Amino acid sequence: MSSILIIYSSTDGQTLKICQRLQAVIEQQHQVTVVSIDDIAQIDLTRFDKIVIGASIRYGHHSPLIVKFIKNNTPLLDSKPNAFFSVNVVARKPAKNSPETNPYLRKFLKRIAWKPKELEVFAGKIDYPAYKPFDRLVIRLIMWMTGGPTAPDAVVEYTDWNQVASFGDRLGKM
Ligand SMILES: Cc1cc2nc3c(=O)[nH]c(=O)nc-3n(C[C@H](O)[C@H](O)[C@H](O)COP(=O)(O)O)c2cc1C
Repeated sequence: MSSILIIYSSTDGQTLKICQRLQAVIEQQHQVTVVSIDDIAQIDLTRFDKIVIGASIRYGHHSPLIVKFIKNNTPLLDSKPNAFFSVNVVARKPAKNSPETNPYLRKFLKRIAWKPKELEVFAGKIDYPAYKPFDRLVIRLIMWMTGGPTAPDAVVEYTDWNQVASFGDRLGKM
């Protein structure tokens, strides 16, 4: 049994939901701690055997806190089995739903020195009623341009939970 830390950045809760599903899968064989990037200063990273980071995309970028954390801890991350996953709605498209084809993940990996040993991309969720008016307008416009849902009350979860469970298995074995 090893001890796995999952660090996440989530604005509307979908990345957290994915982390909780990963935790449920991995916990059958390992000890799992899930922590927000906002609380990472309180965590002793050295006591974990493996580190996983998950972050959603907002307006084209992962959270700057995640980028800063990775830049400040690259040697430590490299010293353990590690993984990164991105959550975004572009990944709802089959041509953009893998680590090799998702444009956000490709761009992100070019910006950082860390080379995660495991990578994954999950399609996220559209939840217009939960968004602030400006965000709702902008995301509806982007969806209109890219063939997604535009009804102002649309709530669509694109996340493939079987894919999440498979990734959990991979994390358990890495
Ligand atoms: C304000 C806002 C901006 C977003 N920008 C993007 C984007 O640029 N590209 C994309 O693919 N998805 C974008 N999304 C979709 C999110 O990545 C998706 O909703 C994801 O599930 C959010 O995860 P979270 O709830 O963990 O933050 C955006 C969502 C919101 C609300």
